[in-house]
Amino acid sequence: MPIKTVFTEKCGVTVPVLQGGMHHVGFAEMAAAVSNAGGLGIVTSITIIQKYPDDPITGLRNEIKKTRSLTDKPFGVNVTLLPILGKVDMPAIVQCIIDEGVKVVETAGRNPEPVVKKLKDAGVIVIHKCTAIRHAITAERIGCDFISMDGFDCGGHPGEDDVGNWVLLAKAGSKLKIPFLASGGCANGKQLAACLAMGACGMNMGTRFMATKEAPIHEGIKKTLVEKDERDTTHIFRTLNNTERVFKNETTLKVREIEAKDPGNFKAIAHLVKGDNYRVSFQETGNANDSCWSCGQSLGLIEDVPTCKELLDDIVKEAEAILVKQPSFVVSKL
Ligand SMILES: Cc1cc2nc3c(=O)[nH]c(=O)nc-3n(C[C@H](O)[C@H](O)[C@H](O)COP(=O)(O)O)c2cc1C
Repeated sequence: MPIKTVFTEKCGVTVPVLQGGMHHVGFAEMAAAVSNAGGLGIVTSITIIQKYPDDPITGLRNEIKKTRSLTDKPFGVNVTLLPILGKVDMPAIVQCIIDEGVKVVETAGRNPEPVVKKLKDAGVIVIHKCTAIRHAITAERIGCDFISMDGFDCGGHPGEDDVGNWVLLAKAGSKLKIPFLASGGCANGKQLAACLAMGACGMNMGTRFMATKEAPIHEGIKKTLVEKDERDTTHIFRTLNNTERVFKNETTLKVREIEAKDPGNFKAIAHLVKGDNYRVSFQETGNANDSCWSCGQSLGLIEDVPTCKELLDDIVKEAEAILVKQPSFVVSKL
């Protein structure tokens, strides 16, 4: 029994699972593997743009073409609207995505208003990822098609409101008119069934997809993801109002220590949080300890490194088993 939702129907996929943009992970190989497995894979534009500083748009165009050569299924591109991208030509990125016929864009980082109209006029589906109901309502008003509602458990940037998914998703279910995906801490089929019960049309996963055979990152990072648990993440950049949930290691603990002594001083931590350290860990050494890298509490639910197809098949099977059950009410013993 396929699980059909407004997400699967509109995006043309068979599994209601999105792979969120992931810096240093979201290359063509990742996106295509997720899409081939039935979900919606996402190429992460910020990673590609940084990889080709001399000609970022050609780099992005080639990555999209490469993804298309690896899958004939729909896939999307993540556009992270952070100040770092202020230096790049955002209209050119959007134009490239449109010219290459990409079906879906995941926006994140700040209000997507500057890019939504152009994408919508070109028929692109816009999924805006945000961490607060008020931001989701703004995204709905300006014409986004879906919200990816990212709770405090998520890997990456959970915002500054510290609201967990139990409340965030229930509130999204009652306040939003447009469909939403549950994001942050998601990794299995029981959660997919729960997300649907909360009114979501699917779920977004980041960290869980890093521990798959096809994820284009070093095996050392995948091994760490299997070995560690839900207590092994922490927050950095709190004092800069740009909180990021990261893997807890000697480097991120050092960053926290410096932030506690010297709050808001980016220069004091810059050497530890350099983006290139992250890239080297993921792409070259597999050392999970000498850089700061995004990681969600879903870490606690990772016990193996399956293929994307095995992972998504398991998720669907587990969710279906719950969804088709006859209603039953069990009162625990008094
Ligand atoms: C390694 C990593 C890198 C990420 N990079 C980005 C990014 O560049 N842009 C973005 O919008 N979200 C990014 N995210 C957030 C994910 O898209 C997703 O929202 C998040 O991982 C969901 O939480 P989960 O990790 O518990 O599944 C990243 C997450 C991870 C784990």
